[in-house]
Parts: sequence; structure tokens; C-alpha cells
Amino acid sequence: MSLISRLPEVEEFLSRVQPLRIDGAEVAGSSELDVVDPSSGSVISRVAGAGAAQVDMAVAAARAALSGPWGRLSPHDRGRLIWNLAELIEARKAIFGQLDALDNGKPFAVARDVDAVWSARHFRYFAGWPDKIEGATIPVSTPNRLNHTRIEPMGVCGLITPWNYPTLMVAWKLAPALAAGNTIVLKPAEQTPLSALYLADLALEAGFPPGVLNVVPGLGGDAGAALAAHPGVDKIGFTGSTATGRQIVMASAGNLKKVSLELGGKAANIIFADADLERAVPGAFWALFGNNGQSCTAGARLFVHRSVHDQVLDGLRKLAEGLSVGPGMDLKGHDLGPVISRVQMDKVLGYIADGRTGGAQCIAGGGRLGDTGWFVQPTILAGVSDDMRVAREEIFGPVLCVLPFDDEDEVLARANDSEYGLAAGCWTRNAGCVARMGAGLHAGTVWINCWGDTDAASPFGGMGQSGYGREMGRDALALYTQTKSVWQGL
Ligand code: NAI
Ligand code: MG
Repeated sequence: MSLISRLPEVEEFLSRVQPLRIDGAEVAGSSELDVVDPSSGSVISRVAGAGAAQVDMAVAAARAALSGPWGRLSPHDRGRLIWNLAELIEARKAIFGQLDALDNGKPFAVARDVDAVWSARHFRYFAGWPDKIEGATIPVSTPNRLNHTRIEPMGVCGLITPWNYPTLMVAWKLAPALAAGNTIVLKPAEQTPLSALYLADLALEAGFPPGVLNVVPGLGGDAGAALAAHPGVDKIGFTGSTATGRQIVMASAGNLKKVSLELGGKAANIIFADADLERAVPGAFWALFGNNGQSCTAGARLFVHRSVHDQVLDGLRKLAEGLSVGPGMDLKGHDLGPVISRVQMDKVLGYIADGRTGGAQCIAGGGRLGDTGWFVQPTILAGVSDDMRVAREEIFGPVLCVLPFDDEDEVLARANDSEYGLAAGCWTRNAGCVARMGAGLHAGTVWINCWGDTDAASPFGGMGQSGYGREMGRDALALYTQTKSVWQGL
């Protein structure tokens, strides 16, 4: 196997313990974290880890920056800085691609052309917003009064992000938060801190004043918990597990900071008898195996009408057997990489074993792949029933569960029988069914005859225990702004 050679910038970045980025400066942490490449399982670098003291520093820097040059910048110039950042990300997409491919394990081409390029697009979309965040003049009924609203930033925003899309999940939160005029303390996932640190350097290069974006990698229970509980933080934007989301809500109670949460999912995907199987089978396949199943929107529960069940299963199995799985930096280029960590690999393998014990048939994969790095074979479990753990809990790995069904009312009820509600979808050529599913599926996003589409302009978020708040589009600005009503006696 030959690996893609690392860019000089990437070599340089990995060659020293990356410090925290606070107030435009490099700051030592209170610990050091290993940077692990899950494709090899080996430590490739180290970064500083923040503790409560460094989180305090970062929050103070972000607070001070609110009333510095950033706070006085015109909306036009704020937009221009965000645009500059978008251009820099796109120009350095290969660096982002390598950092994320090494840190997360995903294929380099995907990390560069999807994660980095879409991040740039996200910033570009939000660069257009600062001079369009309008208040209103309200026709109040009191005589001799003028009433208007101002849409103001929240203040200091703590952003806590996961490891599955290291750059993109940062972009989803950071771009609207900056467009609205906030300052930021970003705590990236401890498994994938590199690209967030690199982004902090690009933000300075783009012209953002020091203190606007502070980056403090660290453990969740350490830096993350300190940020979530911090009295100087006005808002937390979080993506991650439902369990951690709950802890963040509790930690936020001290100062009643605003919280938005994008949490787990267990998306139902339905193939009806009349579906165009040429599209539905690969569509449903990639709905789960995209990003190696490590997506909150993964189409994890695939309901297939009994009349096409065996045919679909056969198609899925063939696709699984044709997948190439390997290191993110392999010159050959693979469809999928490893899962993020040994912990995650053991968790995924545990679910597969549990499904088999419960009576599911493994028609593809089923075990670890090789003994170097954290690879799991793309796995398909058939004959899964609704009450099994593999059908109810988020696995977050390359495991597709297939469940047969007989009629529409039945499958809709079963699809909606989940504590989660992030995404759902179906494949059908029946216009009535399309309309009924669009309305009936309980999820923040419904995909019909497609899967996984997102756009910076279209709202995204969860119902039920998949969280609250909508990222992207104009809804995202609501998460990072607050409305003030101003009354004036005439
Ligand atoms: P996690 O939710 O614990 O981690 C996400 C982020 O939260 C990380 O930055 C972490 O450092 C931080 N964090 C952890 N504990 C915290 C605390 N007490 N206070 C503040 N921040 C804290 O998820 P983890 O452990 O990485 O993965 C476990 C499972 O979570 C996965 O198997 C998957 O099911 C789910 N998950 C869902 C994601 C999504 O996109 N919805 C992303 C990552 C994980
Ligand atoms: Mg890593």
C-alpha cells in the first residue's frame, strides 16, 4: 500500500504539539491529547488540551472581542471577512482534506471535495447575511409610540462539535454565529481537533480580529463541560450524542444560557413495492454506508416491502461486497475508511453480535476487517425486528438493518416509533404516498426518492430526542441572535 504524501503544511502542522488558540495567540494547555489516525491506530501527533482555566481565558477573550473592533465592524465588512474565510478554506482544501483524512480516517478525496468544499460553501452562504438581518417596525396600538425591533447577537457562543465531519460541523455552527456578530469559543471533538486549530489560523489570515474565534480542544468532560457550565457563555451550539446533549442542557441551567442541539438519530428509510429499484437500492445503501455509517442522518432502519424484499436484499449484498474499504490516505482511494476509534469499533461489533444473538441474519460483513486500524466490514443485518437494540439504538457505524413490511399505515407507524426524529425518507412512484410520507414521517428532514441532501440555505435539525433548533438557512440565524423590542415615546 502506498500512501498519499503529506503536504509540507500538514507535515509542519503535525510536527509539534499544537497549542490552543486564544485571543489570536498560541496558548499552552493543561494537558496533552494524542492525535490518532484511526486508519493505523497510531499516534501521529499531539495537541494541547484545555482545562477549566484555559476555557476561562478563552471566554474572557471572546467577551472582550465583542466590544473591540469586531463589534464596531459594519455588516458589510463582517460579511467580507466571512467570505475571505470561505475563499481561504477552498484554496487550502487539500490541507483540510489531509488533516481530516488523517485525524478521522475518511478518504482524502471525500475530506477534500466534500467536507472542505462544502464548508467553504457554507461560509459563503452566510457571508451574504450580515447586512440582511433586519428588525421590523411594529404597528403598536398605543398612541404616540414608535416600536421597532433590533436583531442582536447572543454574545459569546460556545460551539461543541463531533468527530464525524470535523470541518463541516464546525462550519455549520461557526458561519451563522459569525454572520450574526457573535464571538466564539470552539471546542472540537477530542478525536479530531486538527482542522479546527488550522481554521483558527486561517481566520486570523482572513482578517478576523483576535478573540473572535478561540479554539480549545480538550476532553468532553473537561473542556466541554467547563464551556457548557460557564457563566460567561451566552449560548451553546452542540452536535453529538443525545446523552451528552442532555448533560449540556443541565449544565446550562446555571446561567440559563441558550442551547441548540443536533443529536442522534435512527432514521427510517422505506422502500415501497412500486419504487424504482434501480435508484432505491443504491440510494438506500449509501443512505447508511455514506461516511461509514457515522452520520446522525444515516438511514439505519431500512423498511422494505415484502414483495420486493428479497430482490432488494440481493442488490444490497452485491453493493456491500463491491465496496472498497481502506486507509483515508491510501493512494488507491477507497469508498470507506475506518471507524473513528477502538471504542467505536468495539461498540459497533457489539451491536452486530447482539443483533445476531437476537435472531438477525448477517448477509454481508459482520466482523472486524484486518487487524491494523479500526476497520469494520460493511455489514447488513436482515430479519431484524422492531424491538431489537440494533433497530432502536444509534449504532453510528457501517451496519444496515433491514426490516420487511406489508402495508403503508403499518410501516408509517413503525417508522415513527422511535425516540429520535432527525431524518426519514422513502422511495415510491406513487404521488399520494409521496404526499402522505412528506407529511406523516416524524423527522426534521424527510428525503423522498433521494437521501442525504443538505444545503446551507435549507433548515436542518431534529424532532423528539434528536434535539432542538434548526441549523442552516435563515433559521440558523435565529439560533445565534436575540430580538430586542425598542419603544420610543413620540
Ligand atoms: P459525544 O456527544 O460525547 O461527543 C460530542 C462532543 O461533545 C465532543 O466534542 C465531546 O468532547 C463533547 N462532550 C462530551 N461530553 C461532554 C460534556 N459532558 N459536556 C460538554 N461537552 C461534552 O459523542 P461521542 O462520545 O464522541 O460518541 C458517542 C456516540 O454519540 C456515537 O456512537 C454516536 O452514536 C453519537 N454521536 C452522534 C453525533 C451526531 O452527529 N449526532 C456525532 C458524534 C457522536
Ligand atoms: Mg483522530
